[in-house]
Amino acid sequence: MLITTETLLGADPPRSAYLESYRVLRSSVLALNEKEPFQTVLVTSPGQGEGKTTVVTNLGIMLGLVEKPTIIADADFYAEGISEVLGTADAVGLTDLCLGQVQLDEALIETEIPSLHILSTGTQIDRGPELAVTGSMKQVMGQLKERAEFVLLDCTPVSGFATALSLAGAVDTVFVVSLARSQATVVQRCLDELRERGANIGGVIVNDVLPSDSAVHRAFHRYYG
Ligand SMILES: Nc1ncnc2c1ncn2[C@@H]1O[C@H](COP(=O)(O)OP(=O)(O)OP(=O)(O)O)[C@@H](O)[C@H]1O
Ligand SMILES: [Mg+2]
Repeated sequence: MLITTETLLGADPPRSAYLESYRVLRSSVLALNEKEPFQTVLVTSPGQGEGKTTVVTNLGIMLGLVEKPTIIADADFYAEGISEVLGTADAVGLTDLCLGQVQLDEALIETEIPSLHILSTGTQIDRGPELAVTGSMKQVMGQLKERAEFVLLDCTPVSGFATALSLAGAVDTVFVVSLARSQATVVQRCLDELRERGANIGGVIVNDVLPSDSAVHRAFHRYYG
């Protein structure tokens, strides 16, 4: 799959509430960045399949569309991240950079959006969870910050996996994606665990809000339906 200016993951036709919700997310992220500047963003969630890869990809596209230099880096070393979705799993990437085996220019993958680049997990994916706790990962984060205004890391869930907790303190901020139907206590526990690891929580992104559940979506459909 290619990233283009026309597609959002999971999108239906343009002008939908879905597309608009990502414009709202972009606006919130840019407003937050004005108040408390950040560049590296870890995207995680309490559990599996809550929409991390979808959200991080679409947020990257939305930032790219307003010409914000953005890199989406795949830090999900269990092959559930953007490298799998885009079919770039065999490319050099984050792990190779940590091991000093490639230069950043060789690893960055262009997209149809000039401001948006992808960084795959890399060829040493099995070593990813260990590399996530090394100083070399912090160095690579520093390199990425020099190349882009925003570096979005697609990561593992918190429950059952070490990587998100390992990286939580190595990034400027953490966004937690949570399904709307998740229990508040589960989300709270996830936030507590991340904070214990030194995370600065930028916000919680609620995914899979049903139109019938949301006054905002009802209003949208009334005006544009
Ligand atoms: N808002 C949404 N509406 C419809 N489908 C969605 C939505 N968000 C995610 N999905 C679908 O749900 C599935 C899981 O999403 P995704 O892969 O983004 O989750 P994830 O949190 O990255 O999963 P994992 O923990 O396995 O990495 C995908 O098939 C995706 O297309
Ligand atoms: Mg994923």
